[in-house]
Amino acid sequence: MNAAAPEPKANMGKPEPRYDARLKVTGEARYPSDVPLKNPAFAFLVTSSIARGELTRIDTGEARAVPGVLDILTHENTAELDSGKFGGGASTSIDKLGPEIFHDGQIIAMVLADTFEAAREAAYKVKATYAPAQPSATFDSPGVKVEDATTVSPQHKELPHKGDAAAALAGAEVTIDAEYGTPTQHHNPMELFTTTCVWEGDKLTVYEPSQFVYGLKNGVAQRLGIDPGKVHTVSHFVGGAFGSKGGMTPRTALVALAAKKLNRPVKLVPTRDQGFTIATYRAETRHRVRLGARRDGKFVAYIHEGSEVSSRPDPYVVAGVKESAHLYAFGAVQTKVDIVRADRNTPGYMRSPPVVPYIYALESAIDELAVKLDMDPVELRRVNDTTVDGVTGKPWSSRSLMACYDEAAAAFGWKQRNPQPKSMREGDWLVGWGCATAVYPTHIGAVTARVRLLSDGQVRVQTATHEIGNGVYTVLAQLASERLGVPLSSVTVEVGDSDMPPAPVAGGSNSTASTCSAVLKACDAIRAKLFGAATAGGPGITEGRGGAGEQLAEAFKRAGVSAIEEYAEFVPPGVKPEAISQLYAGKSTQTGGAEGEYIMYALGAEFIEVRIHALTREIRVPRMVGAFAGGRIMNTRTARSQYLGGMVWGVSSALHEATELDRKRARYINDNLADYLVPVNADIGEVEIVLVSEQDDEVNPAGVKGIGELANVGTAAAVANAVYHATGIRVRELPIRLEKLLV
Ligand code: MOS
Repeated sequence: MNAAAPEPKANMGKPEPRYDARLKVTGEARYPSDVPLKNPAFAFLVTSSIARGELTRIDTGEARAVPGVLDILTHENTAELDSGKFGGGASTSIDKLGPEIFHDGQIIAMVLADTFEAAREAAYKVKATYAPAQPSATFDSPGVKVEDATTVSPQHKELPHKGDAAAALAGAEVTIDAEYGTPTQHHNPMELFTTTCVWEGDKLTVYEPSQFVYGLKNGVAQRLGIDPGKVHTVSHFVGGAFGSKGGMTPRTALVALAAKKLNRPVKLVPTRDQGFTIATYRAETRHRVRLGARRDGKFVAYIHEGSEVSSRPDPYVVAGVKESAHLYAFGAVQTKVDIVRADRNTPGYMRSPPVVPYIYALESAIDELAVKLDMDPVELRRVNDTTVDGVTGKPWSSRSLMACYDEAAAAFGWKQRNPQPKSMREGDWLVGWGCATAVYPTHIGAVTARVRLLSDGQVRVQTATHEIGNGVYTVLAQLASERLGVPLSSVTVEVGDSDMPPAPVAGGSNSTASTCSAVLKACDAIRAKLFGAATAGGPGITEGRGGAGEQLAEAFKRAGVSAIEEYAEFVPPGVKPEAISQLYAGKSTQTGGAEGEYIMYALGAEFIEVRIHALTREIRVPRMVGAFAGGRIMNTRTARSQYLGGMVWGVSSALHEATELDRKRARYINDNLADYLVPVNADIGEVEIVLVSEQDDEVNPAGVKGIGELANVGTAAAVANAVYHATGIRVRELPIRLEKLLV
């Protein structure tokens, strides 16, 4: 991999090293389960071995006899816990320990003991007796219930629609009608789904890796029936989340209850395989895409019908047509999404939830259309590029799609491509080049922050946002340093703690845009107090950084104080002011994408080379180029790292990753990191990331578009398109494994 941090261009921040880099490489960064505890008890989960039916008996006698066992929680002694609510996407309402079983791996008991080993041994001795029923696993399983998403999901009542797409398709000169599928995937964060709870009197502290400490705080309080003011949630570092730690899962309240009952701190570290069923996952999807175009490539119709799996009780819907329908000037648009209810745990957000499956399908179909039109796939996208949305008529706030294509194509050498499939063979290797678009809605949420400046130039920034690898510590330090004119090393950033002012869920790639907007506001309020209103909107307190100290000392002297602290609230346009009080109450409001006055998306273009062995069909990806435009880039190093990680994950989706399902029992088969395939270093060749300059003054005060979920969006289609170019075989079901090329 190419290791250099890209040089900043216009509208880009410096490639400062990560604020938390030293802490992480030295092991000093304390993850939630690392917190030292006095006299802890250990918890181990027992999960259901059937996917549907009833728990008729749970015998804990033998388990309780294991030395060191303190107690065992089951549905018989946890009735006092209220049920949580399905939060529309990052949580589940299936949180009772029985007797009804909704999915394989549902928690049915939690064993508590003096040691982890005793808890584990006893857990294996808990005997469950079931009255099982035949479960429905997935698409086409007997007994699934199919519903139109618009009737079951309040957030998806309306899906994009424009004109008479069926008629436009019927009249089109060239058409594509194809079906695609994506598999079940699990996040598999390196850090397991741990929870540690400590009570001091009636005050509860929860240490848990979380993408939303205020949501967790309020959610736990609700389940326990206590005042949220008594709950403190802490998550300073998160060892991988990708959506899986965005919502409350059933385990947290159980651990809190256990700690209360035992009057001791309790720590739970579930196993890797339990993580497949006690948290969420990316559900499998199916798509039928129809495109109609004129001979010159201009789209006239786009019809996209998607199906997604969800659990019986919770209507989790991603409906990526809400995003895909705005990507090009399609002409007439018609979309539909079905939800297939099966006996499965509730799915949830997983990196770029709506766009990963839907854009894979759309960008594959566009490549198929380019082949049929005998047109270069980049030119086909250029012909259909637009700055005004075809569905709503709204303008894009900024749109650099073709700039991304042009920069990536140049870096890749796309001009050298022979469009004929199978034409670029080198020895035993069939070489294929493909490309596709990456797109992600620009989100921003109501947010608060507190900034304190001392007369000696020390700055402290506090906001309850979340470091999930996104680099938020680093960019907040950079912003405060720049805005207050102090050296970066003078800034301390504190996040991930519900005692701090609330920030939105670290989901939807909103964190940088949201928190920077609030921190900017607080910094400007400090400047106004210190230097008078005239300087508040200006560039920096000083031109270079050298003079800041003296200027500051004088200004503080004049003001007659030694510290200034400002708390700021930021409510994005189109969001109601009560979003702030709701945020304190654990409800995160976000806006963006196609919802506001402007169409706001980050965009990119990805080019991939695949090499497929003519005989063995081994598939390699020797090089990738991605060019991305995400508004103002706060830090070119952390941004590049986000894009690089995204494209690597895209290769994973394209070629490796799938959770295999036992269709008869509705159970996951490969629920471990040995059998769940992800790329290793040897699977990834050269990766070149091009940061495309983009200025957007409409998205938010910081000019920032979220980028964390952008780069893994186009990769799977780009790989599939390259595989077609190499072999002439169009694989329409991910992942593309070599057996699919043995035809
Ligand atoms: Mo991300 S899947 O929106 O946490």
